[in-house]
Amino acid sequence: MLERGRGGLSIDGLAVEELARRFGTPLYVYSAAAVTERLEALRSAFAAQAPLICYALKANSNRAIISLLAGRGAGADVVSGGELLRARAAGVPADRIVFSGVGKTGEELALGLKQGILAFNVESSEELEALEALARSSRQRAPVMIRLNPGVDAGTHPHVATALPASKFGVAAPQALRLLERAAASRWLRARGIQCHIGSQITDPRPYERAARAVARTMAALARRGIVLELVDLGGGFGVRYEKERELPLRRLASSFCALMPAGPRLILEPGRWLVADAGLLLARVLYRKSAGGRRLVIVDAAMNDLARPALYGARHPILPARPRRGPERRTDIVGPICESVDFLARARRLGPVERGDILAVLKAGAYGFSMSSQYNSRPRAAEVLVEGGRARLIRRRETLKDIVSPER
Ligand SMILES: Cc1ncc(COP(=O)(O)O)c(C=O)c1O
Repeated sequence: MLERGRGGLSIDGLAVEELARRFGTPLYVYSAAAVTERLEALRSAFAAQAPLICYALKANSNRAIISLLAGRGAGADVVSGGELLRARAAGVPADRIVFSGVGKTGEELALGLKQGILAFNVESSEELEALEALARSSRQRAPVMIRLNPGVDAGTHPHVATALPASKFGVAAPQALRLLERAAASRWLRARGIQCHIGSQITDPRPYERAARAVARTMAALARRGIVLELVDLGGGFGVRYEKERELPLRRLASSFCALMPAGPRLILEPGRWLVADAGLLLARVLYRKSAGGRRLVIVDAAMNDLARPALYGARHPILPARPRRGPERRTDIVGPICESVDFLARARRLGPVERGDILAVLKAGAYGFSMSSQYNSRPRAAEVLVEGGRARLIRRRETLKDIVSPER
């Protein structure tokens, strides 16, 4: 993976300065080996349950990344028709795809039905009605999991908590029970399971355990009514270590799930970040330096449109110079060219001397980096490169100014 040697920073043996020179900046670089290692580590932690791992595409939806995971048996968790088509194009079999999201349109439901996906994660009674009507009119049974909101606080950033009582996601336990009974009684629906996803970047296993208990209670109530489910999907949200955080203890989580879940239904997990965050770097070039209010400012060519997480959640990504220079560290703000004060990659960070033209590497940028990027300020989106077997391959070309304006009429 990442190495700091005499030739500067390298990723899987390739110098990042050279990658920046060859492909330009800002540039996302991913290590294929790092992605597959994480998939195997997750499988090994949950070996006793042999879950179906449905990679949450939203973390990084480049086709090369999806097919890397699909080629090793992963399924997909998708949240839009676009993600569903991406998953299929990258080789994910339809019967390994779950479709989540509170606002699936009629076209998206129809697409999922036509493709023959494993299950729709249904999030409201009106969505269930819409799906049933569609299934009836196309004379095709729709596979359903109901998303349960267990009402637990995952102890994560409020913007990525999804199971608070007033959250827009899923339905509370009594309604989940009713909707599953309804699906089980319908000729056009197939009640396959319960799904639950309590948030993202969670590092404490206890909220998962509370959620798993709520899922188990609902399953027991259904079993008493003679409804036996085939699938139980406990979502994603597994937290990674960006800076000082603890990683979620996966082995403890696996044994808790084992103890809390009834034997029988197949376990599904929907990790996104955990699989890809560590595998990616964002490379930026230093444009200018100045100082303001006693602080050093380093202005680079990557901005909040390329990596939104610092501006959006106050996320702290480690940042390293590709080739460190000798000299004292100073408190530095690393900022982008966008005309917003919140456009920063790091604030008050200790950084050694840098010169114009130097390359900085923003680490752990593989998840919710490119996939959340935009063209704000009419900036073309960055290029993406995958390093695999000692070679770097362009997996998405840099956008051009023409790409920005061509859809306009
Ligand atoms: C339904 C669902 N599943 C899985 C995920 C993946 O979360 P993470 O990337 O934190 O694992 C998300 C993220 O928002 C989600 O909404």
